[in-house]
This record gives sequence, structure tokens and C-alpha cells, in this order.
Amino acid sequence: MTDAALQEARGAVGRPRLLTFLGTRPEITKLSPILPLLDERAAHTVVHSGQHYSYEMDAQFFEELGLRAPDHSLAVGSASHGEQTARMLSRLEPLLLDLLPDAVLVQGDTNSTLAGALCAAKLGIPVVHLEAGARSFDRLMPEEINRIVVDHVSSLLLAADDVAGANLRQEGCAADRIRIVGSTAIDAVLQVRDRLDGSTVLQRFGLTPGAYLAVTAHRAKSTAPDVLPGLLGALGDIAARQPLVWPVHPRTRAAMREQQLVMPASILVTEPLGYLDTLRLVRDARALLTDSGGLQEEAAVLGTPTLILRDETEWAYLVAAGAHKLIGNTPQSVRDGAARWLTAEGLAAIRATPIPVTPGAARRAVDATLASL
Ligand code: UD1
Repeated sequence: MTDAALQEARGAVGRPRLLTFLGTRPEITKLSPILPLLDERAAHTVVHSGQHYSYEMDAQFFEELGLRAPDHSLAVGSASHGEQTARMLSRLEPLLLDLLPDAVLVQGDTNSTLAGALCAAKLGIPVVHLEAGARSFDRLMPEEINRIVVDHVSSLLLAADDVAGANLRQEGCAADRIRIVGSTAIDAVLQVRDRLDGSTVLQRFGLTPGAYLAVTAHRAKSTAPDVLPGLLGALGDIAARQPLVWPVHPRTRAAMREQQLVMPASILVTEPLGYLDTLRLVRDARALLTDSGGLQEEAAVLGTPTLILRDETEWAYLVAAGAHKLIGNTPQSVRDGAARWLTAEGLAAIRATPIPVTPGAARRAVDATLASL
């Protein structure tokens, strides 16, 4: 079916025309509460960059979240940042020129977010950025560069919280472009929370609720040759004392291969897990150790104490509230953080902290987006 015929079939003719551009696992989950609302209220086209393409990093998430298939896929695959972003730009541009949407919606901080925003902005198409204003203040993170560029070419900045809003104003973004809508990661977890008991992940890996730790680490900083060997060593030591399970991201696996590292035998390793298995694993863990941005918020909704394997975080409100602890990624800091917080008293103190979690971001984001067109 052609795009026009598809839009007609959806009863979308005469409505605002919105194009959502996404490409990776976190964008799929964080946009999942929004996509059906946009299908209802706009002539909505979904374009997938193809940055993530493995079943377990991509299609599985569409299936589990009950999302319709994207209308177009650019199939860019993996490459260096420059090459990957360039492929997205050159493949998206003709599509945008053909469809001429009223606005393009992007989420987060990935190379797909950057390419979608840049391509639209250079064609004079307004960009709506969901999760605007999140900052780690670490410009060595590729994601930090992406966020800054995207925010500064966007027309509407949908920020998760007041801190993000203040970051944007600090950088000179006009206040009338900023809306504080909350975080859709929270809505995404809430919409599947009742289904988590159906996950068989604990049985499959022989895990007892409350008696294991969950770990993820995949960021460029964690997988760098001066960090990854020490991180593996420290996590291996922790795993020698209590069960520790790690669904390993393809980037981490590739880095281990390149650096000729082997996973300590004490760590229980799995392939990347789907959304429901991941959330169940995190929900029932004694604690989560992670460098992921998305998982920090997901763990907060699920009430799981979280030690962040970084020195900074975009989700500072969770650290400020005392719900999450920044423990760094050096062998000494990880060992010290574990010794301090992975005790009955340490975990009880974290669990006793009220977690600031506000639902409803998806509807507020959609309302603000449509009102801007
Ligand atoms: C990207 C995002 C990061 C996000 C993460 C979530 C950027 C700069 N970073 O990082 O913010 O937290 O997604 O997962 O956009 N690979 C596969 N199968 C896939 C996709 C990737 O095997 O479906 C492997 C490839 O070897 C690839 C590597 O993973 O080179 C890294 O993938 P890439 O998309 O470049 O970055 P991520 O580390 O996933």
C-alpha cells in the first residue's frame, strides 16, 4: 500500500502529519507509549533507521510491546559514527522530501536521534525532541554530543524534569520552546508491569528472587581498553560472593573480543534479553549495577536499588533523591561501592528512600507536540 493509501485507511487525511524517526532499543521502549497515541491523533509515519537490527535488539521489542511495524526502514546497520550517521542522512532526506511532514519527532541521544533531527532541520521541517535537556556534562560521551546538537536544532523541547528544563535555558534555548512533560520510560514500564510475572527468565537461569545481582555495561566509556579489564575483574570478584547475571550487549561482546578478554567464570552471562525479561530480571534482583540511562529509570519504577557504574548521570534526580548511587567504574570504586551499598543495611537504606516517579508523560508529550503544529 502506498503511504497516501495507508494514511487514508487509518482515517488520517486532514490531520497533522507527523513522522517519528527511531532506530535503537531505548528509542523503541521510550516511544512505545507514544506511537499508538500518534497513530490515533495524527497522520503518522514511523521510519526506522536500522541502527539496531538484531532480533533481540529490535524486532523482539516491537513484538513484546505490541507495536505496529515501521512504515519505512533505512537498514543502515552498524558502522563508525560518521559513516552510520551519513547513511541515515542520505537515506532519510529523499523520504522527508517526499512525505514533507509537519514535524519530525525524535527521542533521546543516539546517532539515529541526531540524524533524524539534523536531516529534518536542514530541510526546514520542525523537530520535536523527546527527552530534551538531559545532560551528563561529559562531552566525551557520544550521546552528550548528540543531545546538545539535537536540542539546538529542535523547535519543541520535551524535557523530562525541571533540571533538564534548566539545562536548556542555561544553554540559551528559548523558554517558550520548552515543555516539562516527564519521562516516557516510566509510562513504558507501567504499561507492562502486570505482565512481568509471565517472564520465565528466572527459571531459565536458575535464579532466586532477591538473591542475585543484575549487571549491564555497554557504553563507550565502560568498554574502553583502559576501563573494561578492571571492570570485569571487580565484577568477577563481586560475583564470587553472590550470584551475578549479565545480559551482554553486542558492543561489550565485540570489545571483549578485540581486547582478548574473557568473562570471569563467576559471572552468569546471557545474550541481550527482551524488554519483559529484562524488567523481570531487574525487578527481582537484590540490586542492579549499570551504566545504562534507560535502566536507571526502569529500576526506579520497579523499586530496585541501583549502583551506577559511572561518575555522572543524566538522571540526577534519582541520585539526588538517594534512590541510586554513583559508584564509578574503576576496580577500586566498584569494590568500594559494592562494599558500602551491597549490604543488608546499605540496601535497606536505599529501599527506604521514596522514589520520585511521575506517570503520564506520553499523553503530555503528544498533547504538546500536536498543539505545536
Ligand atoms: C547505541 C546508542 C546508545 C544506547 C544503545 C542502546 C549511539 C551513539 N549510542 O549504542 O546511546 O544506549 O544504542 O543499546 O547511538 N550490534 C549488533 N546488533 C544490533 C546493533 C548493534 O550486533 O542490532 C553491535 C554491532 O557490533 C555494533 C555495536 O553493537 O557495532 C554497537 O552498536 P551501535 O548501534 O553503534 O551502538 P550501541 O552501543 O548499541
